[in-house]
Amino acid sequence: MSFETHASYDFSHAVVAITGAAAGIGRQVAEQFAAAGATVALLDRSPSVAEVAAGLGATHRGWVVDVSDAESVATTADEVLSLFGRVDILVNNAGIGPLAPAEDFPLETWDTTIAVNLRGPFLVARAFAPGMLARGQGRIINLASQAAVIGIEGHVAYCASKAGVLGMTHCMALEWAPRGVTVNAVSPTVVETELGLTGWAGEKGERARATIPTRRFAKPAEIGAAIMYLASSEAAMINGANLMIDGGYSIQ
Ligand SMILES: NC(=O)c1ccc[n+]([C@@H]2O[C@H](COP(=O)([O-])OP(=O)(O)OC[C@H]3O[C@@H](n4cnc5c(N)ncnc54)[C@H](O)[C@@H]3O)[C@@H](O)[C@H]2O)c1
Repeated sequence: MSFETHASYDFSHAVVAITGAAAGIGRQVAEQFAAAGATVALLDRSPSVAEVAAGLGATHRGWVVDVSDAESVATTADEVLSLFGRVDILVNNAGIGPLAPAEDFPLETWDTTIAVNLRGPFLVARAFAPGMLARGQGRIINLASQAAVIGIEGHVAYCASKAGVLGMTHCMALEWAPRGVTVNAVSPTVVETELGLTGWAGEKGERARATIPTRRFAKPAEIGAAIMYLASSEAAMINGANLMIDGGYSIQ
């Protein structure tokens, strides 16, 4: 029996902003929303984002932005809003995951991780939420991680930043849902992207897979499917949730 189904959503009236959209999960999510008819604003620090956007079709557009830089985010958000008129759905996806033992974790790397993974989604949400709140509708989906709810060796800054993303998600969900904007998080296990496979290559990866009840890592399209569901009108009653996409790893 095959489970190769493809949920079909119609996002043809939606403008979707996705951070970290030049690669990995963000790129996959951009492709899925574009295929569902959305107009997509792809935001990434990599200049390759322009080419990725062009590859999706003429209606989409890429911007080079550092999500941890308040000025860069404000300028980019202004440009996105003046080109597309509004953003209905924001996927806060850009993230980094530098690893080191907690006792040796370089302070500068700690600061950068928190800046990109936690300050970043805060800045970008703050840039696009006012328009959503003014229109009385919107969706924000934040990429957390299984690392938000469990400890993982070497991941001290990453775990702290992703736990912070959940705290931020709860507060925004509480404050903004009464005005039509739901805010949720998704928390994958290792996903087969450059970031995921770099940290979990070889024997380390094999051992990790064996501890996941489904015995495998997640595929980017599986994260995309969950994000599209949370962005859809069917998910209007889901607010402040953290959807685990970890094959059951964190229930053990
Ligand atoms: N891959 C995994 O195993 C995994 C698991 C759980 C959660 N996540 C989360 O999913 C998200 C995406 O991960 P991925 O695996 O696709 O990563 P990736 O490294 O494949 O892609 C991340 C993208 O974000 C961009 N980016 C990084 N820093 C940025 C910044 N300061 N400003 C703008 N763009 C920036 C990169 O250029 C890149 O295009 C991250 O938030 C990550 O923490 C990933």
